[in-house]
Amino acid sequence: QEQNRELRVRLEQLKKERNAIILAHYYQRDEIQEVADFRGDSFLLAQKAAETEADVIVFCGVHFMGESAKILAPNKTVLIPDERAGCPMADMVNVDGLRKLKAQHPGAKVVTYINSSAEIKAETDICCTSANAVKVIESLDAEEIIWVPDKNLGQYVQDQTGKKLIIWEGYCNTHDMLTVKDVMEMRAKYPEAEFVVHPECRPEVVAMGDYVGSTTSILEYCRKSDRRQFIVGTEDGTGYQLRLDSPDKEFHFATKFLVCPNMKVNNLKKLVKCLETMKPQIYVPPAVADKARTSLERMLQVR
Ligand code: 13P
Ligand code: SF4
Repeated sequence: QEQNRELRVRLEQLKKERNAIILAHYYQRDEIQEVADFRGDSFLLAQKAAETEADVIVFCGVHFMGESAKILAPNKTVLIPDERAGCPMADMVNVDGLRKLKAQHPGAKVVTYINSSAEIKAETDICCTSANAVKVIESLDAEEIIWVPDKNLGQYVQDQTGKKLIIWEGYCNTHDMLTVKDVMEMRAKYPEAEFVVHPECRPEVVAMGDYVGSTTSILEYCRKSDRRQFIVGTEDGTGYQLRLDSPDKEFHFATKFLVCPNMKVNNLKKLVKCLETMKPQIYVPPAVADKARTSLERMLQVR
């Protein structure tokens, strides 16, 4: 506790010295969310990165999020507390594979979930996050749409929009772990609870949801609902904001495995250290960033 207090004091000094802003995803450790200037989902944090006046962006999340920030704000320094914080789903698609698929469907538009590398975004027409995926697909006038890399979100968006997608076989190791059996057991234990679920979960689990939505919409739904108890089908870090919003409600995570180990690689100590040393910095080759930027900017314009 005493050490964390000292770290927080040091962090405030460094933030001023460097003119830095701290962005934290809702899946980060509580000790990071507590000190962030903005907590948010992938969409809000990309928006904040694009708009900020700060000179330095410290992105507390996984690597692709830092890359998106750097692409949207190329003249700023983007730091990440630990560059080993990757996203296994983002690594499930590679440029060669995507190019092959594009060659098989020459007229198709490519829609890429923001959970992907800068190189993949450079091969993309428009990006999306879980918060705007349905809107992005509806905004497109295309005969064929290639969807990478999340098959579960792709299936959900296909069901919601009625548009047939050409879906890549990637998935989130954390959300995909949740099973129908897990949810049935939790329902038996908490019969009064509502089950809220992220569309990165398997389709058969998503189908059990009383509410399906991105991280931010799950938070909003739980805040507004008059129900007192919830079974939560998304990453454990969201508990911080859920409990902050509704201290009198009960939140039970659907299994103890809903923890993204990559997100938890960052901690307060590493956050302070990266601002102290200005390392590690996110670097995206400018030629890649220039191509990738269009796909992110198009996403930010979809209303
Ligand atoms: P959102 O922030 O869009 O809900 O995405 C979830 C996720 O898995 C981020 O890595
Ligand atoms: Fe990637 Fe899933 Fe972790 Fe998000 S929660 S960073 S999609 S592994």
